[in-house]
Amino acid sequence: MTPTPSAEIGALSPYRLKREDVPVKLNQNESPLDLPSEVKREILGRLGEAPWNRYPEVRAQALRASLAALCGVADDRVLVTNGSNEAILVLAQAYAAGGTVVVAKPSYSMSRPLAVTGGARVVEVPLADGFALDVDAMRAAATEHHAAMILVASPNNPTGNRFPNDAMARLARGFGGLVVVDEAYWGFHPETPLSLLDGASNVAVVRTGSKAFGLAAARVGWIVASAAIVDILDRAALPYNVGLFAQVASEVMTARRDLVAARIVEVLRERERVAAGLRALGVTVYPSEANFLLMELADPRETFLRLVEHGVLVRDVTSYWSLEKCLRVTVGTTEENDRFLAAMRAALEVPA
Ligand SMILES: Cc1ncc(COP(=O)(O)O)c(C=O)c1O
Repeated sequence: MTPTPSAEIGALSPYRLKREDVPVKLNQNESPLDLPSEVKREILGRLGEAPWNRYPEVRAQALRASLAALCGVADDRVLVTNGSNEAILVLAQAYAAGGTVVVAKPSYSMSRPLAVTGGARVVEVPLADGFALDVDAMRAAATEHHAAMILVASPNNPTGNRFPNDAMARLARGFGGLVVVDEAYWGFHPETPLSLLDGASNVAVVRTGSKAFGLAAARVGWIVASAAIVDILDRAALPYNVGLFAQVASEVMTARRDLVAARIVEVLRERERVAAGLRALGVTVYPSEANFLLMELADPRETFLRLVEHGVLVRDVTSYWSLEKCLRVTVGTTEENDRFLAAMRAALEVPA
């Protein structure tokens, strides 16, 4: 007999993306820039010297120390995870299992499944005009449902805007649960939510190595919170949750602050060029503080298919709440962005 899964997990869909075979891949907000060969060689050299028959450091202590230094906090305020997805999962398991998580919508597609897999119920609260955080509505939902956690992504995906720190501070003030700010797109915007941690003991910030570091393949994320929260998370996270490759690759990139900063500058420059190019084609582009752009189109599904015909894959976000007319495009390399803009011109039949 087939065993019956829990109703909540049975109702989820596996995470899959269609059409992986298109040459210009601008659908996952990855860094368009692979690591320079000399950096890869350094990582491979260190991996070659490390023993592979032994477990890696159980809490990635060396990496934890360098990430703590990067974030300007003590080591005991950081937990390293297997991508930021695991960070959100562990937070939900430790602080919201059996309770309710309030999330904004539209937001990161994995927010709900991660909270559900962590054993929580999810209540979604729409963003206000201009994709602003509706603090009062979020707080009201948290009170009504006795929420254990409020989870927001800032900058938000797929809208691209950032929520001001004072709005997120208002979420935390007087709230008995944990406010989790998913800052996957750290580095691409000026005001980090890390400073919220100074004024509130019920805030955790989640970061990833998948965007600014350009290490999506390594699967590294981390949580910055109070030492008391990290102590609890340390009990929930699996031992050896971060593999050797992830630890070494991230340590090397953490030491390369100039390289990381230069790559961010490049992406930001390209982001503004792509935004201007799209506006010149008559496309509405929303302001972005991340490494992608949200655009509004008359017929987004048709445009999506035409872009695929021209070898460019973007993200169809038309199924997201209030984004029926939207596609999301990741900022690529200069060459990829040129191909994307040319494909958009062709797809929209704008004369040259
Ligand atoms: C808001 C947000 N959080 C988390 C992630 C996933 O990060 P990771 O690769 O660290 O699991 C993404 C990826 O696109 C994202 O947009």
